[in-house]
Amino acid sequence: MTGQLITFEGGEGAGKTTQAKMLADALEGVGVEVILTREPGGTFGAESIRKLVLEGTDDRWSGMTELLLMYAARIDHVEKLIKPALERGAWVISDRFSDSSLAYQGYARGMGVETVRSVHEVVMQGFNPDLTLVFDMDVYLSLKRVETRAFEQDEDLSRFDKAGQDFHVKIRDAFLDIAKTEPDRVKVIDADGSRGAVHARILNALTASYPEFAGKLGGA
Ligand code: TYD
Repeated sequence: MTGQLITFEGGEGAGKTTQAKMLADALEGVGVEVILTREPGGTFGAESIRKLVLEGTDDRWSGMTELLLMYAARIDHVEKLIKPALERGAWVISDRFSDSSLAYQGYARGMGVETVRSVHEVVMQGFNPDLTLVFDMDVYLSLKRVETRAFEQDEDLSRFDKAGQDFHVKIRDAFLDIAKTEPDRVKVIDADGSRGAVHARILNALTASYPEFAGKLGGA
């Protein structure tokens, strides 16, 4: 099989990063080469853009500037890391990808879904994830997790973490809407539960899309 691009999406504090690592380990355990990456970022150039876009005050960039910065970072990531990996048969797991632009810039920042989809088409030229898992959980709980993590690790909150609860409710609804629009590609994962429980849900979703892994990864 050729490589597959699996993307993890959802609001802040839903445990995507931990779960992406757990899935990478599970796939590597059955002999798949896995590249674990993230957005915005993943390549040297895209990580520089990440700093620009995540640091500073909430009103630092207009919605359009933010959208174009995200796609500038994304195309560097796709051309330099993702496509070469897929071509040699590796699987790529990306902690966020284009659906974050749709949810954050399109729905929550008010750029509109059509604008984001147009930019997506021009920049990506038909390149899309093979499978997208949306981590869904209660907004209040997830923001509590973000605050606790920032406090424990003595980190600053990102521009998006500081955006307020209404913004994050919009993000949650946006991702659920995207999943409804593209049900074949986008699956919703209930992200509330222990690490092991959420991991098991992910393995079930993966084996539903890739039955050749049934019984091998530990999923149903
Ligand atoms: P990060 O600290 O990686 O957040 P998380 O751990 O929740 O993934 O910060 C990434 C932030 O960038 C996150 O708030 C979502 C936002 N973002 C966009 O607004 N648009 C995009 O296209 C992407 C990829 C991310």
